[in-house]
Parts: sequence; structure tokens; C-alpha cells
Amino acid sequence: MLTVAHPTISRRLLQLAPAAALTAAVVGLASCGENKDPQALPGKALAKDYGCMACHSTDGAAGVGPTWKGLYGSQVELEGGETVTVDREYLVRSIVEPSADVPAGTKVPMPVNRIPDEDVQLIVDYIISLK
Ligand code: HEC
Repeated sequence: MLTVAHPTISRRLLQLAPAAALTAAVVGLASCGENKDPQALPGKALAKDYGCMACHSTDGAAGVGPTWKGLYGSQVELEGGETVTVDREYLVRSIVEPSADVPAGTKVPMPVNRIPDEDVQLIVDYIISLK
């Protein structure tokens, strides 16, 4: 089932890219200034537009991929046995290069995407805010 779903998701990700960039620009303008409410961060809308939420929850619920709640700063055991602490660099790499740092017990690979670096950074800001 998932082998069928994956190409569809990546194709949709590519189609959504320009729309997401536009959303980012609009949301970015709207949320000028200091705003620490995760619900108001532009990364939230981006993650939704890029289809990330199909596999990741923000409330701790299990999904196809690990929940984003409390992910930042947590310890993740990787395939191969090494345990790492999730920092900003780890989050960025997980998105840009999904085949790197795969958590132990992963059954489905995360799809490859082509997300512009500035959007990746905004999504990472959002993930970090999800305590
Ligand atoms: C088809 C399901 C799927 C989609 C869509 C998806 N992911 Fe994932 N994601 C996974 C799986 C499975 C893993 C764990 C395996 C791995 O790292 O490849 C993962 C891992 C991650 C991790 C690292 C988590 C950890 O504990 O190491 C981050 C961060 C992440 N994804 C962000 C994203 C973002 C941002 C998007 C949207 C652009 C996204 N994912 C879309 C399935 C998905």
C-alpha cells in the first residue's frame, strides 16, 4: 500500500512547492516580529502544505514517522545502535537527506523531497517549538 502511496506523495510535494513558497511569503509577512506561539509559526503551514503531516503528528501520536512532539532534544537510537541527541542539525539533515540517520525500528523509509532550504529552516523552527 505504501509503495503505491510514496510516488504520489513525492509528486504532490513537487506540485505544492510553489504554492508553499507563496504561503510562506504571505504567512511570513503576517507574522512579522516576535512570535513564540508554535501555532503561528510559518513552518506549521509549510509542513501541512508539503504533506509532512500525513506521517508525523505534533501531539505524540504514533504515525508512519516519529511524532514531532518533544523530538527536539530527545535521544534517538539509530539503526546500527548509535544513540544521538536531536539538535537543529539533525532535524535539517533528516529532512534534506531522509536516508541519513534512520531511527531504529523504522519500517518505511521517509520519501525524498526537494524543499528549498529556507522552508526547511522554517519547518525546523516549528518542530523545535513543539515541546
Ligand atoms: C510517507 C511518510 C512521511 C512523510 C510524508 C514525511 N515523513 Fe518524515 N519521516 C518518516 C519516517 C518513516 C521517518 C523515520 C525514518 C527516516 O528517518 O527515514 C521520518 C523521519 C523524519 C524526521 C526525523 C525524526 C527522527 O526521530 O529521527 C524528521 C525531522 C522528519 N521526518 C521530517 C519530515 C518533514 C519536514 C516532512 C515534510 C517535508 C516529512 N518528514 C514527511 C515518514 C515521513
